[in-house]
Amino acid sequence: MYDAVQTAADSIAAQHGGPFPKTVLVLGSGLGGFGEVIETQTIIPYKDIPGFPTSTVSGHSGQLLIGKAAGAPVACMQGRLHLYEGHPIEQVALPIRAYRALGAQTLVLTNAAGSLKPDMGPGSLMIIEDHINASGQNPLIGPNDEKIGPRFPDMSDAYDRALREKLASAANIENIDLASGVYLYTQGPSFETPAEVRMFASWGADAVGMSTAPEAIAAVHAGLKVAGLSLITNHAAGIASHKITHDETLAVGAQSFEKMSRLMLRFLPAVA
Ligand code: HPA
Repeated sequence: MYDAVQTAADSIAAQHGGPFPKTVLVLGSGLGGFGEVIETQTIIPYKDIPGFPTSTVSGHSGQLLIGKAAGAPVACMQGRLHLYEGHPIEQVALPIRAYRALGAQTLVLTNAAGSLKPDMGPGSLMIIEDHINASGQNPLIGPNDEKIGPRFPDMSDAYDRALREKLASAANIENIDLASGVYLYTQGPSFETPAEVRMFASWGADAVGMSTAPEAIAAVHAGLKVAGLSLITNHAAGIASHKITHDETLAVGAQSFEKMSRLMLRFLPAVA
């Protein structure tokens, strides 16, 4: 495992040349356009990085951008990898481990999610306080490599408190309403049933989605600090009065793009 991580890291270093940013941003469904806001120095398609899986979902383009956002050095995954695409879970962890090997310290995970709260509607932004992994999957299953991280990583502050405060203060400066809540991870790709949605709400979840938790677990294991931000694109099944579609996710992502972009441009320099 460690060799595969090092091979990917070496390949990124060779293709980029300069120092690797301390902050890495992962763009969720419909948020890939933030890549255009970055002053890009290097673009590396995932297919040119050994061991990186390629992204197959519409709205996810599949490249690593390295450059600056509002003057702050950042690497940006334009195109996320999901388990429902059929990638083995350890492949979802590999890019994160490679960034850590390159010296990254912070991972900012964004996603599109369904709301479980009637008063948190489409277009809302939610800081991820914590997650519930309801998938039965974990990227750390299998032999543990102590060179990467410990066998049993602590998850009590998985979404770093100081980063959550920085996100909240960036939103405050930009006059953007920000909710805060628990993100529940389900593998997908089918959306939830109304019965599942009722159960998840009773468990204490505020939003549901098909990403983020595997990356957060791999990042905490490897010693990265994690921040998470959900863009609420719809009310989850049973709360919404209509059927849920991926097109709706992409459309609300596009509508809320300006807000999320302003928030990130204020937040990223505060993290760097
Ligand atoms: N459920 C799961 N994932 C999602 C949803 C949803 O309702 N909306 C956007 N991503």
